[in-house]
Amino acid sequence: MKKVIIDVDTGIDDAMALSYAVHSPDLEICGVTTTFGNITVEEATRNTLQVLELVGAGEIPVYPGASKPLVRELKEKAKLFHGENGLGNVELPLPFAAPQAMRAAEFMIATIKAHPQKITLITVGSMTNLALAIMAAPEIVSLVERVVVMGGAVTVPGNRTPVAEANICADPEAASYVFQSGIPITLVGLDVTMQTLLTREHLQQWRERDTKISHFFADMCEVYMDAYAKVGNVLGCGLHDPLAVGVVIDPSFVTTYPMHVQVDTSGSASDARTIGDRREQPASASNVDVCLEVDHERFVEHFLKYVM
Ligand code: BDR
Ligand code: CA
Repeated sequence: MKKVIIDVDTGIDDAMALSYAVHSPDLEICGVTTTFGNITVEEATRNTLQVLELVGAGEIPVYPGASKPLVRELKEKAKLFHGENGLGNVELPLPFAAPQAMRAAEFMIATIKAHPQKITLITVGSMTNLALAIMAAPEIVSLVERVVVMGGAVTVPGNRTPVAEANICADPEAASYVFQSGIPITLVGLDVTMQTLLTREHLQQWRERDTKISHFFADMCEVYMDAYAKVGNVLGCGLHDPLAVGVVIDPSFVTTYPMHVQVDTSGSASDARTIGDRREQPASASNVDVCLEVDHERFVEHFLKYVM
């Protein structure tokens, strides 16, 4: 079993990623850390506790993290996609469990140091917690097994701006810092996540299962799909965060290309863009393994098998 820490801004697809990771027989979740992005960090922490309890994993500890970007102001919540509460306005009972007192970055450092070369960190929200962890304990760069990041758009358009993806936009300086830190990164960006779609037929199958969990996910994802349809994606919604979990479970779902990637922090129209040097003779050595192809049928099948 692979030991993982999942850093989330729960969020509809974050909720699916958590449930998929909980039910996957290949992963051991050491803890879940929370950040801002789709919603505030307080809301992300509440949603994470609620979702873990719903899927029968209320014993997994949740560590609250950063409430704002490293240097910028907090951006608006992603209400159009994730609703006012982050879970498509579908209500869950208030959580029984309380969040841990230890902060997210502190938990990342302690866990990575306790299990050298054994922890895979999956970040599916802003990268602020990881940036803070590396600043406080740079030695984790060589102690972590790998960081799998849902973020960026290297070869395709963005989703938050014409060129930038939402998780990178949430804190471009944090993403830039992490990319330059030397930590081993696999980047699961819109390049591949927009090829792994959940469709209305899948939601119908969930409704037919007729369980508390299946109705919750179907109701929530219907809101997500309606939002996707409004911006022109009528076929379904991207399984962004679940694909990052999937890549940890089975790296053969994707094909990666080593590349030098930098994050634009200029504040201009290209702000938060992930610029990958795809030239035959790049100017700098590669720092990121970028996923550019995905076996979407095999991944979606695996996701549907384990998400609930
Ligand atoms: C990413 O941004 C968030 O809105 C989603 O939860 C996902 O992590 C997709 O760009
Ligand atoms: Ca997310």
